[in-house]
Amino acid sequence: MSHTIMARLFGIVAALVVLPVAAQQAPIVIKFSHVTTSETPKGKGADQFKKLAEERSNGRVKVEVYPNSSLYKDKEELEALQLGAVQMLAPSVSKFGPLGVREFEVFDLPYIFDSIEEMHRITEGPLGQMLLNKLEVRGILGLAYWDNGFKQMSANRPLKKPDDIRGLKLRIQSSKVLEAQMRSVNALPQVMAFSEVYQAMQTGVVDGSENTLSNIYTQKHHEVQKFITLSDHGYIGYAVITNKKFWDGLPADIRGILDGAMKDATKHANDIAKKENDDALEGIRKSGKTQILTLTPAEKAEWKKAMVKSHRQMEERVGADLIKAFYKETGFDPNK
Ligand code: LMR
Repeated sequence: MSHTIMARLFGIVAALVVLPVAAQQAPIVIKFSHVTTSETPKGKGADQFKKLAEERSNGRVKVEVYPNSSLYKDKEELEALQLGAVQMLAPSVSKFGPLGVREFEVFDLPYIFDSIEEMHRITEGPLGQMLLNKLEVRGILGLAYWDNGFKQMSANRPLKKPDDIRGLKLRIQSSKVLEAQMRSVNALPQVMAFSEVYQAMQTGVVDGSENTLSNIYTQKHHEVQKFITLSDHGYIGYAVITNKKFWDGLPADIRGILDGAMKDATKHANDIAKKENDDALEGIRKSGKTQILTLTPAEKAEWKKAMVKSHRQMEERVGADLIKAFYKETGFDPNK
């Protein structure tokens, strides 16, 4: 064989070996940061999105999930998303006020939702979409709403009547509506990142908090709180968000795959949320580390009466029309 033919053959073989490697582009990496553990409705939703996105894109997308504030805490993660250091988050809807999008705090009005179905009338309808659209001026695109569940009070004192909470330092998420809610029962609200709550409870920096049972259980708050009152006075749900520039810059076929994966992960997260919270209640009960208190309908009515005062006070903050629109959708009557 002549040298020329050999050189050509070598060239062809080399090209065959090298080409597929060169053609194989590096995957698109999506960093999905969140603050709860993987064993929560949000944690499981994020893991499901990762699974579906990677499978359906045949590895062209890689989703790296960073749970339990392992990458960023509450406030930092929103900054990181805007800077493009991470591509996806699912903050609770109570955390957009500091970003300048106050309207989301309407979700925090105490007792505005009696059931998850009422909440879904908002999140799956035009009001929910209108609120997500408000994030766009901040460079953020809202992709979906995910459920967690109803909030319960925890403290080192048994909370049965509104007056029992007077003077207690209560950790809240960064929401002015939650601040007003706590002040309506003469408690002292303290805004604090989720990842810091356990230690604050343990060291007495706060006396108590409000959270969902799945969050209480997976963060072990029940180990450092003597009582949990099943108050169901408010709700925690999430907006799954991405950096708009990043999302818009994705190849159209990949964006389509990710939209589909998000739709199915949303269904998964919302399907399991109630059971996750029911199981957490069971786990907390079994641990024997805290006492679980229930309220009679009359006691519930007292809490509601005291806290609903905050609705009027917050009209200026979140918008009287928006509050009315929520009432209309959920059937809430402030005079009942
Ligand atoms: C909290 O800060 O208590 C919650 O928003 C945490 C979460 O993401 O569920």
